[in-house]
Amino acid sequence: MESLGNFRRTHYCDALGRENIGEEVVLMGWVLRRRDHGGVIFIDLRDRRGLTQVVFNPEVNPEVHAKAHQLRSEWVLAVRGRVEARPGDMANLKLATGEIEVLVDELRILNRSETPPFPLDEESEVSDTIRLQYRYLDLRRPEMAANLVMRHRAVQAVRAYLNGHDFLDIETPMLTRSTPEGARDYLVPSRVNAGRFYALPQSPQLFKQLLMMAGMDRYYQIVKCFRDEDLRADRQPEFTQIDMEMSFVDEAQVIEITEGMIKALFAATLDIDVQPPFARITYDEAMARFGTDRPDMRFGLELIDLTEVAAGCSFKVFRGVADGGGTVRAINAKGCAGFSRKDLDNLTDHVLQFGAKGLAWVKMKAGGEWQSPIGKFFTDEERERINSVLGAEEGDLLFFGADTPAVVFQSLGELRVELARRLDLFKNGVYNFVWVTDFPLVEYDDKEKRFQALHHPFTAPREDQLDLLETDPAAVYSRAYDLVLNGTEIGGGSIRIHRKDVQSRVLGALGISEQEADEKFGFLLKSLDLGAPPHGGIAFGLDRLLMIITGSSSIRNVIAFPKTQKATCPLTDAPAPVSRKQLTELYLRPDWKEKQQS
Ligand code: AMO
Ligand code: AMP
Repeated sequence: MESLGNFRRTHYCDALGRENIGEEVVLMGWVLRRRDHGGVIFIDLRDRRGLTQVVFNPEVNPEVHAKAHQLRSEWVLAVRGRVEARPGDMANLKLATGEIEVLVDELRILNRSETPPFPLDEESEVSDTIRLQYRYLDLRRPEMAANLVMRHRAVQAVRAYLNGHDFLDIETPMLTRSTPEGARDYLVPSRVNAGRFYALPQSPQLFKQLLMMAGMDRYYQIVKCFRDEDLRADRQPEFTQIDMEMSFVDEAQVIEITEGMIKALFAATLDIDVQPPFARITYDEAMARFGTDRPDMRFGLELIDLTEVAAGCSFKVFRGVADGGGTVRAINAKGCAGFSRKDLDNLTDHVLQFGAKGLAWVKMKAGGEWQSPIGKFFTDEERERINSVLGAEEGDLLFFGADTPAVVFQSLGELRVELARRLDLFKNGVYNFVWVTDFPLVEYDDKEKRFQALHHPFTAPREDQLDLLETDPAAVYSRAYDLVLNGTEIGGGSIRIHRKDVQSRVLGALGISEQEADEKFGFLLKSLDLGAPPHGGIAFGLDRLLMIITGSSSIRNVIAFPKTQKATCPLTDAPAPVSRKQLTELYLRPDWKEKQQS
């Protein structure tokens, strides 16, 4: 192994082109590939930016050539050499540096490498666990490096935009109290306060509101949030928010400012000019048309309400549901009557995951005729009526869901997305933004038998509906808004409550007693008595945004050191056991094994 000595890098490995021919350069990087062509050795030298072909020619420099013989994948090199044009037919126009190569006359081997546990030069089948265990190798791969560069650019664009709009970047504590986002907390035991725990923040929600009470007026932070919840492809236990709050604003102003930020972000990352104002849809309309509050509006396949028709029909399943206060909805998959029995079985299995009891279907034949397992349960008139409500024509495939609204919306909403996937309706390069507004303030929690805040308990109710808080809380709408991009919720926020009387009434509607409220967030309630300005804000999921921007299938691909589905880190092996002594110091009893067995 050799030292750097007097070598100083002159260029990154993506930088050299025809204009550099004849220059002496110094490059540093890793051996990606080595080819030995009858004496001449070619190395693809890689760094975080790109590749350069470096050449060892025995006729030009036999000593260096002999040394190059030992080079292997992922060895770390410094080379000094001259930039030369590649012979005409050897140029590789796909590569930024494909027209040149560097003829080496000095080589320093800075470090060796064992054979890496997986090859880095191709899209090979490597398990996610191995990739995460050797994340530093995984990140050497150009696609992964590009994701981190994209993330950096996104963050810089957001900062530049917000700094330019008078926002202050202010940090908030990581060791704090439970916040109201509704997931499970990560807890940290206190050594100096026996039996007491900090919670890692699920978001800076309460602190950013307090910063408004403090007169900071416009706040932002690019900040880690921690939620102990079941993980999915777009969820991580620790993730990053672009968190913002503003004083003296209404919904329209929050939306306008953040649309400008999203525009700047897309310009800086993808060089795409997205066009605010973005579309808007109310929560009720989103549910009715798409079955979800995060509608993917890149395609149709909308839900159609058949409850009224079903109420009078002869098919027991439909009529029973309609009469029992449930809902019957359908999707007309235009031109899909060619789906096979297997396709239909797979789609049925898909909706069963979401609680549906079945998936009735109809293939449309000529003359409005049905081919369907449920055809015999309907009269001619009923079939005609359904055809006309659904606009069904020969060659169409109709799907029906009958159940409680929650089950029908979720299962048909998911069916819609699955159909779009099968029909290849997700077009690359389409970015469909939509604001979802007018959420219900509360939703009924069947398990707990009480109302829960749909967003969090500090979300303001619509001002003209305050009187309903005591009489019919379920009918009250909130001043919350979510931004949805291609069917993913990328951000959410609201105008907050800044009046003590309104806050007390909302807590009352949520069945939170004064004592409980005082214990949990008395400090926030107190601030409402001491000159709280009207305020509101929003937080964006930075990782989710980048997942979409980079076209990644998993949120993990845009995070340098992410966790697995089981919230573990194969690289550091966290979470890890700790010693009895540590537990005792923290006033924790080491009896988890007994608990696990019981
Ligand atoms: P909310 O809980 O909607 O709002 O979170 C804001 C955004 O954060 C992203 N997000 C996540 N991303 C990755 N992994 C997760 N586990 C995860 N959970 C949420 C989503 C989401 O839209 N304090 C409020 C904001 C406010 O009211 O201002 C809040 O945290 O993209
Ligand atoms: P059954 O009479 O239970 O055999 O159901 C006849 C057809 O209706 C089957 O294709 C089922 O998948 C479908 N089906 C049954 N229950 C429901 C439901 N709640 N919603 C939609 N389709 C259903």
